[in-house]
Amino acid sequence: MPDAQSQSMIRVWDPIVRIGHWVLVAAFATAFLTEGEPEWLHTAAGYAIAVTVTLRLIWGFVGPEHARFSGFVTGPAAVLGYLRGLLTGQATRHIGHSPAGGAMTVALLIMLAVTAVSGMGTLAVEEGRGPLAGIVTVATDHEGAVFHDDDAHEAGEVWEDIHEIAANLSLVLVFLHVGGVAIASYAHRENLVRAMVTGRKPVR
Ligand code: HEM
Ligand code: HEM
Repeated sequence: MPDAQSQSMIRVWDPIVRIGHWVLVAAFATAFLTEGEPEWLHTAAGYAIAVTVTLRLIWGFVGPEHARFSGFVTGPAAVLGYLRGLLTGQATRHIGHSPAGGAMTVALLIMLAVTAVSGMGTLAVEEGRGPLAGIVTVATDHEGAVFHDDDAHEAGEVWEDIHEIAANLSLVLVFLHVGGVAIASYAHRENLVRAMVTGRKPVR
């Protein structure tokens, strides 16, 4: 039986997936903990997430085998089957994402995108700044031009509420994600976190 050192390894996660992952971890922690203030730091972290998620979405179509959505996005039956397998100790090990890992990847990317875009909407409506300034604007009155402070306030609150809810839902997903990584690492007796650092997993 080969020991851990001599076991042959297979490359799974390419540098874009790995660097993108750890950028997301750092930027998400920064954006969440700053909660909007100081604004330069909060928005910088938020833009880092927006850029990383956008690149990851493109990479999901043009990247290598294990980065491609077509390789790991499955239907709900496969996800439930895998989760059931975890409970009964029968879950199949996957070299790339498991069906549940794939579903979580998609959920995280979508929620992060909604959070970042709603943050940009909040900034645009409240302060007229950022990439959505001029695209997302507050309501004008029926004559079309008058800009009421009250309207601005209300529109800002809606965007801010969406932003806050999206940020909190993202946090819930992150907790489930990290819990899932721990459970799958235990179930398959392998260190999935190390694989996301080195990019490699034992062949077995
Ligand atoms: C320190 C906490 C974290 C650890 C230990 C961790 C670990 C991992 C691991 C091991 C994987 C690969 C899962 C698999 O084998 O299928 C993964 C994937 C992923 N994680 Fe995390 N993660 C953490 C936090 C986060 C956070 C905060 C985010 C986003 C805000 C995130 C987003 C993702 C995404 C999008 C993927 C899919 C990777 C891809 O295909 O690009 N993770 N994570
Ligand atoms: C995707 C990562 C992001 C996360 C996790 C995040 C999280 C948060 C949280 C938790 C708050 C406090 C919400 C509240 O209590 O009202 C907040 C506020 C805010 N965020 Fe974000 N945010 C992100 C991205 C962005 C981006 C990209 C922008 C704009 C470019 C942005 C702009 C703002 C603004 C302006 C506020 C303050 C709202 C106010 O108090 O008036 N955020 N964000």
